[in-house]
Amino acid sequence: MQLKHFLQFNDLCREEYEYLFERSRWIREAFKQYRKYSPLVDRTLAMIFDKNSTRTRLSFEAGMSQLGGTAIYLSTRDTQLGRGEPVEDSARVISRMVDMIMIRTHQHETLRRFAEHSRVPVINGLTDEYHPCQIMADIFTFIEYKGDIAGKTIAWVGDVNNMCNTWLQAAEIFDFKVHVSAPPGYEVNPEQIGLSSTDYFETFSCPHEAVKKSDLVTTDVWTSMGFESETEQRKIEFADFCVDQEMMALANDDALFMHCLPAHRGEEVATEVIDGPCSVVWDEAENRLHTQKALMEYLLLGKVKEV
Ligand code: CP
Ligand code: NVA
Repeated sequence: MQLKHFLQFNDLCREEYEYLFERSRWIREAFKQYRKYSPLVDRTLAMIFDKNSTRTRLSFEAGMSQLGGTAIYLSTRDTQLGRGEPVEDSARVISRMVDMIMIRTHQHETLRRFAEHSRVPVINGLTDEYHPCQIMADIFTFIEYKGDIAGKTIAWVGDVNNMCNTWLQAAEIFDFKVHVSAPPGYEVNPEQIGLSSTDYFETFSCPHEAVKKSDLVTTDVWTSMGFESETEQRKIEFADFCVDQEMMALANDDALFMHCLPAHRGEEVATEVIDGPCSVVWDEAENRLHTQKALMEYLLLGKVKEV
């Protein structure tokens, strides 16, 4: 089987995502019914974390175990990666001992270099630039609630970060539109994230304008991991970018609210929105498990069923 990595959202095409979503539904059903499904017996996943995590670690570790395999947690703090062993050497060694590797790190370039020297599939568990596993789960969640995402409008309010960049890549693949609203100085950089056109997004200086008539409103923390020194400055710059009830009311009547979590209530989102009726954040978090199980099955075994 040809070696396949999942480093950016556009590493897979729409037809592959549609296959993965079908598998996610099937795998979720088996899991909920306590039906044993162990296609990854004797397979091992190494998970390398250079940043904190709750959902990503748990969904990969539980997911691997539920599929019959084993997951090993490695932190850069207590491996030789944290003491300067070259990424290339680490990739060569680790990929001789396990079947698949997930990495959460800072620069995307580090992940790319690792993958270039790996013998086994590498999955992006978040970099400063992208979070493809999360957007895969988010789009699956949207489709579960609303059906096809093509032609829909997603409003992104807040920091133009790894989540926003990945939504923008996904818009080209699934043919939807992203309305981005961020403060001055936090503009979208289409070349840097490899967008092939500017047709799939529009930018708005006013978040209320961005949200109008959207089908989904989504946001994320104002300060992502690795940018903590900017926290106080960002609180000032993003003060008008809180998704509150008034903002949410401008979206379509049946619009959803998503947040990849962890959330800061009272900063990027008001309590009444994240804990209100439009919010699907708990299903969104749970779907990390089902979609990543489908992804791991696909990267290791290819298509196991025609859908
Ligand atoms: N959403 C997400 O990736 O959460 P963690 O940082 O907890 O993994
Ligand atoms: N943008 C956030 C996402 C955390 C899951 C961060 O990078 O910290």
